[in-house]
Amino acid sequence: MEQQNREQWGSRAGFLLAAIGSAVGLGNIWRFPAEAYRNGGGAFLLPYLIALLTAGLPLLILEYTIGRKYRRSPPAALRQISRPAEAIGWWQVAICFIIASYYAVIVAWAVRYAGFSVGKEWGKDPESFFSGDFLHAAAEPGGPSEFVAGVFWPLLGVWALVLVILALGVRRGIETANKIFIPLLVLFFGALVVRAVTLDGASKGLDALFSPDWGALTDGSVWIAAYGQIFFSLSIGFGIMVTYASYLGRKADLSGSALVAGFANSSFEILAGIGVFATLGFMAQANGVAVNEVVSDGVGLAFIAFPTVISEMPMGALFGVLFFVSLAIAGITSLVSIVQVVVSAVQDRTGMRRVPAVLTVGGAIAVASLAVFPTDAGLSILDAVDHFINQYGIALAALVFLVVTAWVLRRVGPLGEHANATSAVRMGLWWRVCLGVVTPLVLGWMMVDSLRAEFDENYGGMPTGFLAWAGWGVAGGALLIGALLALVPWRNAPASDTDADTDAEPESSPSPSQEKEEAH
Ligand code: ALA
Repeated sequence: MEQQNREQWGSRAGFLLAAIGSAVGLGNIWRFPAEAYRNGGGAFLLPYLIALLTAGLPLLILEYTIGRKYRRSPPAALRQISRPAEAIGWWQVAICFIIASYYAVIVAWAVRYAGFSVGKEWGKDPESFFSGDFLHAAAEPGGPSEFVAGVFWPLLGVWALVLVILALGVRRGIETANKIFIPLLVLFFGALVVRAVTLDGASKGLDALFSPDWGALTDGSVWIAAYGQIFFSLSIGFGIMVTYASYLGRKADLSGSALVAGFANSSFEILAGIGVFATLGFMAQANGVAVNEVVSDGVGLAFIAFPTVISEMPMGALFGVLFFVSLAIAGITSLVSIVQVVVSAVQDRTGMRRVPAVLTVGGAIAVASLAVFPTDAGLSILDAVDHFINQYGIALAALVFLVVTAWVLRRVGPLGEHANATSAVRMGLWWRVCLGVVTPLVLGWMMVDSLRAEFDENYGGMPTGFLAWAGWGVAGGALLIGALLALVPWRNAPASDTDADTDAEPESSPSPSQEKEEAH
């Protein structure tokens, strides 16, 4: 696609809402509360804040800068920095393809559970309802052998909505959807949190979440968890923010936008922690047990613990609808951003128009998602793929990206100058140290630690057998596909900075109406 024809966000607020919509997702509502609780409660907030300041915001600003400077999706933008770096961009695209395929499934479960909440259809045993009646999950993990219509139809609906939003374009589709969904999310989730903190026993839950276990700060795994949470939650390291920033005007404030998006995301995350733990406190009190007996993570928290609470509380049906609709909305705005990475990369590479690109690329992800996950093996495959793609996809790709950008190509300094030209907050030495030293060291340490856990026979909970193969397969496959796609020669490729040895802007002659928008 010619860069002068590239779409642009309608306003700075539109871009910010889309960036916040991408960041605020399933990771905020179900991952953060459980991670914080498991890793020292109130004391987790310190490593979390340090991770936000040393890795989250610096990387977010770097990704915004690359996207805005080259105004292309990750493979084409990284190719402009240096030709071989294109492979990292395709690697990120492949990671997004895989994440989107299962992220949509959890959104579909949430949609279905919003309906189940009305009649509390899980009855007296939400656990066996979820894995048995709803998912038909096989007792033994293995390959798929049964199709599950109850998951297929809501999943088809989620994909239809996401593809329509994407087909409408950046401004008419993504920006408009976020302008509708984010205020709704704030309204629904705000009402839920207010109700949660006024429940009997809420303070018991909040005590459990915020009572600091300072000893946890000396435990390396707590720090790893904090950095892992920041990466997933801010949507950094997998090309999303490069893609969204590629639709910015050339005078957009980068660091200011990153600070707003980053702090909005963390505020929502802490609000979610308060809402979820106040609710768990109610459940613990009602059953006369300690809060740690009712906490679980991810899938268990949303689809087993919450239904249990909904059954026990007054006006539970309304509370359930608010919770699951919030989860679905937060998930859809993030899912749109993940699929957009793949659509935009293919458009930049082939020159395809938006609608055919959405139908082919988005359609391919939807077909993969609909073929694998609405089956009796869907839950176990989802768990395994999520684990491996997070560890050996997002985190590893981010590590390689930073080492290459900061040390091999030495582009962090010039990119910082590019950001400073239009930004309120200037990037200086601290930014370069965070990106070149602190974050690569932490990511390297994360990698060694999780590989050690993977191969340590005494370490429980890691996928084994078919699931381990599936997990390694998708993580390795994403890397391989990234490398192979970068080898395909392309006609009319943009020249790289290193070819031209210049830090110049890409060719672009904005129209008068664009000139007006460039101030965003
Ligand atoms: N940032 C998105 C989330 O938190 C992916 O779910």
